[in-house]
Amino acid sequence: MPGDPRRAERIANLLMPDADKVSDVRGIGAYTGEYNGKPLSVMASGMGQPSLAIYASELFMFYGVKRIIRVGTCGGMAAKVKVGDVVVAMGAHTDSSVTDVVPGISLSHTASWRLLSAAVAAADGDMAVHVGPVVSRDKFYGNDPAQVQKLADMGTLGVEMETAALYMLAAQHGAEALTVLTVSDHLLDDSQNMSAEDRELRFQGALTLAAAAAHC
Ligand code: HPA
Repeated sequence: MPGDPRRAERIANLLMPDADKVSDVRGIGAYTGEYNGKPLSVMASGMGQPSLAIYASELFMFYGVKRIIRVGTCGGMAAKVKVGDVVVAMGAHTDSSVTDVVPGISLSHTASWRLLSAAVAAADGDMAVHVGPVVSRDKFYGNDPAQVQKLADMGTLGVEMETAALYMLAAQHGAEALTVLTVSDHLLDDSQNMSAEDRELRFQGALTLAAAAAHC
């Protein structure tokens, strides 16, 4: 489940040239086919937790989906994370109220260990893969530099906009979820940012890990 519908189409074409397009409601293409002899669907989430939450909730509630793997991009936060690296989100902090579903408790939004360990095991030695927490924010623009620095100091690997809601929904529905991200820019070092074209194309490493998790 990438955020971008064009990336969903590209992933479907790459992994499953014979896939059927089973929905195009609101321009969110959904593709179903077989990858390595097993069923697989690829569908975009749109941007942000509210959008992802609609699609993921419906997949869990009405379509019998048991695992969702997000493949996306993030802004790097920790100094060791470089543009082009892969981040596997073990957990997701958030500033969103979308995940406040247990009154009085700040939930831990965590990945499925089974999916996470399968993804990490699929990394080859040449790939720079980081495993740890990300932050899922509700705003793309307007980062507070002091907040970014504090999150980076606490080992937060990157910032994106969907994972905390995905992990909460998986927990709510007794399902499994994982997010694998390509670092497309760096919040504390803007000298290495990817172009818009690179953002769309440079996701092969993350996709390899996600595909391994999908069929573990
Ligand atoms: N913020 C939120 N989401 C992102 C970013 C970012 O800087 N980069 C890629 N996805």
